[in-house]
Amino acid sequence: LLRVWSAGCASGEELYSVAMVLHELLGRPGEWTLELLGTDIDQEALERARQGIYRAWSFRRTPQDLVARYFTEEGSLWRLRDDIRTMARFARHNLVLDPVPQEDGVPLQFDLVLCRNVLMYMPRSVREDVAARLGESLAPGGRLMVAAVELDGSLFGGLVAERLGGATVYRRPQAGASARRPRSAVPGRKLFDTSSRSSFVGGGVPRRQAGPGAGAPQAIAERTATPREAAAPARSVETAAALAARARAEADRGRPEARSIAERAVSLDPLCAEAHHVLGLLAMERGDLEGAAAHFRRALYVEPGLAPAHLAMAAVAERQGRRSAAARHRAKAVELLSRLAADAEVPGEPGVPAGWLLEMARGGGSGDGAAAEREP
Ligand SMILES: C[S@@+](CC[C@H](N)C(=O)[O-])C[C@H]1O[C@@H](n2cnc3c(N)ncnc32)[C@H](O)[C@@H]1O
Repeated sequence: LLRVWSAGCASGEELYSVAMVLHELLGRPGEWTLELLGTDIDQEALERARQGIYRAWSFRRTPQDLVARYFTEEGSLWRLRDDIRTMARFARHNLVLDPVPQEDGVPLQFDLVLCRNVLMYMPRSVREDVAARLGESLAPGGRLMVAAVELDGSLFGGLVAERLGGATVYRRPQAGASARRPRSAVPGRKLFDTSSRSSFVGGGVPRRQAGPGAGAPQAIAERTATPREAAAPARSVETAAALAARARAEADRGRPEARSIAERAVSLDPLCAEAHHVLGLLAMERGDLEGAAAHFRRALYVEPGLAPAHLAMAAVAERQGRRSAAARHRAKAVELLSRLAADAEVPGEPGVPAGWLLEMARGGGSGDGAAAEREP
């Protein structure tokens, strides 16, 4: 039995990528029982995930032969093969309010939990509770993966950090040691969603069999030129911008070279806001809060409208106990994000829709933060 949970799965690309990898690796049907669960608070995203139909954007870094092998073209859309689609199950779940997914009243224990690009903008207190619960959801020996910029040893204290294929993952120790318990009772706290009912808590998770197949897609960064870059001499700025985008992609994959790539971008263009943003995130990840703040400050000096840098500054200030500075940066982020269309990609935060980030920013700003109701 192999259980995988994609927590905050959005429209399912990540979980289907896992399904395809397993389809290839565990080639003999019947030898493994697979339970692949994707959860999110966003019902519309879950519906898209269930359908397994994607636009070309989802394949921007995926080799064409993989797309051809696993997807059928339907006009401008791509439909995932049914045998892969039915390997996964999607259900609504709120990471902040709901308990660990259960089956017949018993909390499930997962061999792999993926929770990427979800924790990063939650206020520290909420992040701690959610992180503790993610740790709890692991089977002994199970692994948790977050985005590189979300790595934080102090957050996942009950788990053991280890390097795996160039990435850092958190492992729950085998029997004898257990993951840290949640520090506080979460029910009652309302941040990103006003509904506390998960559609699958207490329900069953269907078991699926693996079969033969091949590879998986990846969804990674592209970047948007800033007005400042448009005005600057093209060649070196383009290069710095391209390096910054690469640094971000490498950081998202947990690759240590992200830092040197971003530093190269800054040496080419000391005013490359996105490179400073990446360097700030990497500094945060190392626990260097002063260094992080210096980079975010530089990014904001160049691009005062960079909402993710304001949110990151808020996170740094929260960790430093500077509450009014944190509130100020969060408020600025809310103001900036409110001006964007909900489904527009946030500049400086590849793949992140503005509406989602706005919810995060609002939730953190109010503390007990009423958030948008996402249920129909
Ligand atoms: C930026 S997307 C990340 C998607 C995917 N994990 C990835 O890395 O590509 C963040 C997702 O987290 C979901 N989310 C935000 N708050 C959540 C919560 N409290 N519980 C569950 N999902 C949440 C959002 O609806 C959104 O789909």
